[in-house]
Amino acid sequence: MKKIILTGDRPTGKLHIGHYVGSLRRRVELQNSGEYDKTFIMIADAQALTDNIDNPEKVRQNIIEVALDYLSCGLDPAKSTLLIQSQISELCELTFYYMDLVTVSRLQRNPTVKAEIQMRNFETSLPVGFFTYPISQAADITAFKATTVPVGEDQLPMIEQTREIVRKFNQTYANVLVEPDALLPTSDACRRLPGTDGKAKMSKSLGNCIYLSDSPDDVKTKVMSMYTDPTHIAVSDPGHVEGNTVFTYLDAFSRPEHFERYLPDYANLDELKAHYMRGGLGDVKIKKFLNNIMQETLEPIRARRHEYERDIPEVYNILKKGSDEAREVAAKTLSEVKGAMKIDYFSDEELIRAQTEKYGG
Ligand code: TRP
Repeated sequence: MKKIILTGDRPTGKLHIGHYVGSLRRRVELQNSGEYDKTFIMIADAQALTDNIDNPEKVRQNIIEVALDYLSCGLDPAKSTLLIQSQISELCELTFYYMDLVTVSRLQRNPTVKAEIQMRNFETSLPVGFFTYPISQAADITAFKATTVPVGEDQLPMIEQTREIVRKFNQTYANVLVEPDALLPTSDACRRLPGTDGKAKMSKSLGNCIYLSDSPDDVKTKVMSMYTDPTHIAVSDPGHVEGNTVFTYLDAFSRPEHFERYLPDYANLDELKAHYMRGGLGDVKIKKFLNNIMQETLEPIRARRHEYERDIPEVYNILKKGSDEAREVAAKTLSEVKGAMKIDYFSDEELIRAQTEKYGG
């Protein structure tokens, strides 16, 4: 069986380093690993509209931001297909048919949907489109027969929902769809990178994000004002590394060669942590180290972004080409789905012959 990747993001803002360690970095590695037959990366604008219905301009403006972030991280249009969800109308058709395979109570039990309904105060004014977006996400995944979906932990209920739809479809009609597996980030720090203020989640509204497109100065300011350990007051005090944002970021970003380059007194992160916990290691030193790492990591991303920013029409062209290509793949799956569901009247000569015979023809 072919190995196919599909994943995506809602275009509601620029992507930040939480997206990077949680998924983008991995996607680029997978794309370059040569182990996959196809990689599809979707800008999920239709899904973004399910809770931004009165703000279409926001979604429209962020298509290019997300595309630039993708390209700048190293997603390569020669190797990966970048597409815009709304341009693949086949996805709506698939969604409509999959709706027959899912119960309302099953959707109500989807933990991600449940949490998001609460977060958005949708309890009494829940748009049907928002409520059913897990089904549309199943269409996104199955249209491309994806085997592998690299996502953050919060998306696991979506993958589970997709797997159930696939099983139900294949049992009820015919073995057409492929059950995907989620691919989660490997470390805890990458799975849940906190905001720079130590809050559990990076979010634009909290102003605690480091964006991939931030300037070197912005990154430095954000790193130097990061939340650390409130009980670590004097340098000589023993400090905590658990729940200390700087150390969580070091968990996610630091590599042995960073120590050689910027902090050769320590062989690795374990030694640095041990010193901090013993006492005698100041926050400024670890923040400067983290800043060096962040600058080194973000520099090539920023440089590639500037390249693409100079040719925005080409970026739209990449998205158009990717969407066209994706559409062909989705159309093929849709046609198999309709065949399995017996709604392919005009291409089934056997049906016409049998009906003719029935009427004595
Ligand atoms: N729900 C995902 C998010 O909020 C975005 C998304 C849409 C997606 N369709 C997808 C992710 C298909 C993986 C596969 O980030």
